[in-house]
Amino acid sequence: MNKRSPVHFHDLQMPVVDFRQDILTGLLAERKYIAPKYFYDAEGSRLFDAICKLPEYYLTRTEIGLLKDHGPEIAACLGQDATLLELGSGSSVKIRLLLEALRPLLYVPMDISREHLLQSAKTLAEDYPWLTIHAICGDYTATWNWPFTLLQDSHRVAWFPGSSIGNSTPRQAVALLGRIAALLDNGGSLLIGVDLVKDREILEAAYNDSQGVTAGFNKNVLARLNRELDADFQLDRFQHRAFYNAGEQRIEMHLVSDGEQTVRVANEIIRFRSGETIHTENSCKYSIAGFQQLARQAGFEPGQVWTDADELFSMHYLQVQK
Ligand code: AVI
Repeated sequence: MNKRSPVHFHDLQMPVVDFRQDILTGLLAERKYIAPKYFYDAEGSRLFDAICKLPEYYLTRTEIGLLKDHGPEIAACLGQDATLLELGSGSSVKIRLLLEALRPLLYVPMDISREHLLQSAKTLAEDYPWLTIHAICGDYTATWNWPFTLLQDSHRVAWFPGSSIGNSTPRQAVALLGRIAALLDNGGSLLIGVDLVKDREILEAAYNDSQGVTAGFNKNVLARLNRELDADFQLDRFQHRAFYNAGEQRIEMHLVSDGEQTVRVANEIIRFRSGETIHTENSCKYSIAGFQQLARQAGFEPGQVWTDADELFSMHYLQVQK
């Protein structure tokens, strides 16, 4: 019988007071915003998984196709016996393809959504008894109190799937990639999925699906504030809006107030004008050359790039600059 590896769990979860403070800062700003990381409570993570299966949301299946088509080549770039860090792990099939191709010694998924992370780490531990797993619950956009001893003397590779880098602005992305480069250290490398610039129709359809799942995902953040911050948003008084901002090369998601209204959030009163929006997400799109330039600024040397035949999505192999 196979010996089952336990999942080691490290909780770096930010305190509730930061969440409250962050939300209020955004809602009291001149142009209201909520950081997209707050989408991912248990329900938000479930809705995101549903988005990944939508016909309009080409990103996930295209990235899976790249992993399937180029698995051995990707594994040859990343190398054997690695410590594999995954940023923003979901319950996805992608990591299975990578684990099978790479056979790392240690797998370190990091995700903000506790239950989701634990559940997927446990399932992977059952299915891959040869693998040691250290799951880290935390916010990769902010926290770098990594249990560093975990990484000592290992050949480090990171996997940042799904074009989640697009949820940071280019300037934030350089800072985030710079922190990843520092974590990987000399000799480390990063495999990262990046969505490509393309026709507006394809992009806008991906964020305005016909079943309304993305609208539900967007609005769920308000339901979360109602539950966790004692807010009283009326969900039917906010509409989902997603559009391509060509100047900034990004999809923007907003929640639009239908009429004037006031909402209580954590004992503060927030006033909305009619048509005023809460900006909930950017999803930046890149050309291959544009992303390589950004990676260089962050301390990476761009290597091989894989794309699908329709050039919808790209996967980049980046090495930490020596
Ligand atoms: C997680 N992230 C890369 C997704 C995206 O495409 O920006 C989140 C998402 N938002 C709406 N649909 C999917």
